[in-house]
Amino acid sequence: MTLFRTVAELRSYIDQARKDGKKTGFVPTMGALHAGHLSLISQSQAENDITVLSIFVNPTQFNESTDFSNYPRTEVQDLKLIDGLNVQAVFLPTTQEMYGAGNKNLLDFSLNGLDTVMEGSYRAGHFDGVITIVDKFLTIIQPDAAYFGLKDYQQLAIVRYLAEKRHPSVRIVACPIIREVDGLAMSSRNVLLTSEERVKAVLISKVLFGIRDTWKNRSFEDIVNEARAAFLHSDFELEYLEISDAYTLHPLSDYSNKAAVVCVAARIGKVRLIDNCELPA
Ligand code: PAF
Repeated sequence: MTLFRTVAELRSYIDQARKDGKKTGFVPTMGALHAGHLSLISQSQAENDITVLSIFVNPTQFNESTDFSNYPRTEVQDLKLIDGLNVQAVFLPTTQEMYGAGNKNLLDFSLNGLDTVMEGSYRAGHFDGVITIVDKFLTIIQPDAAYFGLKDYQQLAIVRYLAEKRHPSVRIVACPIIREVDGLAMSSRNVLLTSEERVKAVLISKVLFGIRDTWKNRSFEDIVNEARAAFLHSDFELEYLEISDAYTLHPLSDYSNKAAVVCVAARIGKVRLIDNCELPA
């Protein structure tokens, strides 16, 4: 496992790997690695000769400065966790390395409405930061495939669109959500939960699975209203619970013959959690 802190060093490593005919898989992360990230790594390893992992807490995708400063940074632990996992390259750039010294210029690219709903309406500018950094990484690394978790469902849809338009040679691979035994979706933010909040956090997946298990057995309106009501009687503050078209992400207001997804964002104490569950057509 070789650590790279500059674009130039990483590029020359990748150029050589390409000359040697190696297939490259890329796993972008913001660190605080957990079993969800490890599943992205193993999927990349199964499909490529080398895996490049990035660890970079990208400042431009945080719409709240406290969220950015509180975001867990656990570089030493992260490197220990992946030591021996056969990750060939780890990219750990500084903000200056990725954005230069001046203004953090953002990519100006229209996302065809994918960024105006859900996370986009609650986290102004978030996806501008995400596409800016993902675009930079894909330009530098030019991987054969890049691996993203389905937990960030809207991010995945947006990255797919970005890659299709700007990096058509990169295959975007969606990897399943990895859950704790009680159902909580794994997230780097889970370590910020108090032990009491951690127990209560199971509500999100319970509500999602409740929808999945009764999907099309009750009226659409009842399903949505009951799910939202479950948060009213809890310690969560619900930001949104939407059932959306799985491809356009536009909200649905009735059953249709389209594949759907239910997405949730809710806050408990100081922590904001998101989760989702795909629903059959
Ligand atoms: O999903 C994440 O961890 C981040 O949004 C990503 C894709 C690494 C970009 O900073």
